[in-house]
Amino acid sequence: MFITNDIRYIGVDDHKIDLFEGQYVVPHGMAYNSYVIMDDKIAVLDTVDAEFKKEWLDNLEKALEGRKPDYLVVHHMEPDHSMVIGDFVARYPEAVVVGSIGAFNMMKNLYGADFAPNKLVMKDGDVLELGKHSLQFIAAPNVHWPEVMFSYDKTDKVLFSADAFGKFGALDYEDEEGWACEARRYYFGICGKFGQNVQNVLKKCAALDIEKICALHGPILSENLGYYLGLYDTWSKYEPEEKGVTLAYTSVYGNTKNAVLFLKEALEERGVHVALFDLARDDMAEAVEDAFKLDRIVLATTTYCGDIFPFMKNFLHCLQEHNYQNRKVAFMENGMWMPSAIKGMKAITDTMKNLTYLENNVTFKGACNDAVKEQILKLADELKALD
Ligand code: FEO
Repeated sequence: MFITNDIRYIGVDDHKIDLFEGQYVVPHGMAYNSYVIMDDKIAVLDTVDAEFKKEWLDNLEKALEGRKPDYLVVHHMEPDHSMVIGDFVARYPEAVVVGSIGAFNMMKNLYGADFAPNKLVMKDGDVLELGKHSLQFIAAPNVHWPEVMFSYDKTDKVLFSADAFGKFGALDYEDEEGWACEARRYYFGICGKFGQNVQNVLKKCAALDIEKICALHGPILSENLGYYLGLYDTWSKYEPEEKGVTLAYTSVYGNTKNAVLFLKEALEERGVHVALFDLARDDMAEAVEDAFKLDRIVLATTTYCGDIFPFMKNFLHCLQEHNYQNRKVAFMENGMWMPSAIKGMKAITDTMKNLTYLENNVTFKGACNDAVKEQILKLADELKALD
């Protein structure tokens, strides 16, 4: 596949994968993208997961049309992009491996070699001349690993953005939901913690004239780039993207669920958008995604061992480790003899930045009776007033 006259796609689709990075469900697979720039000197950009070594080496050989590569550029060392570096070097021993100092240190630790003597260390601002094309390196630390670098080809105006701007899903899967849905789940899972780092690299990229973004996962972005850059700006500033309430709950025998469903109905009657998650059954990464997408959240759970039910605790820790902030929060707790889950939830949310707590939390002991419904309606009114 040609990205431009001189840039070719040599990546692979993975439909065998169950959990990306060991935790994210990817029902539509995953793409490991890799590119070749054909010029006086030839640069290969990143490798793929070892499972696809043969397919990738075949793709590369075809793209090379009988020539030999001069460089292998390593933007990111996570194994889904670096596992075939050794095979590449064995096949093309004269090629020079190009990456950040951090990348070479990781190569030693991961693969027992940093592929010296043919190595070229690049830092922010350095340029690799290929002939007509030149690659300018842009340090992108912690987007999402510390060694990451982007690169920019001024001739074709292409930004190679490592994992940034990627999404879940293989390239041969047509995602009818559009780019943002799975790109958002991917972003908050993978980069969510590193908003400031994403902001820093976005600022550097703002000075570039970009016509295409080539990430290590997901489709090549080539139209309406302001849309994608704008979403990354919103996400990395931790600003809500839309109005609405994430309603995340756990329930043991269905009583907490009944109360939550009553709130959902009351909110929808008031015209408030609700995203509902049963944290024991639904995809946790999807719940985290919507928590960041929407401006309000209600956390509803049972008291358990004097604390919070485990799936809610897990969810709150996920939000905490991804730097959840700038949202409005309400709580619902159920407990047969001593409801105390709000105290436990608040102990975690108190560690997060700029959360505003609502006044009308809901506390009950067992069933969602009329008195409980009255509390819930007060909460629904308060949530509506913030819409
Ligand atoms: Fe796609 Fe961070 O590896």
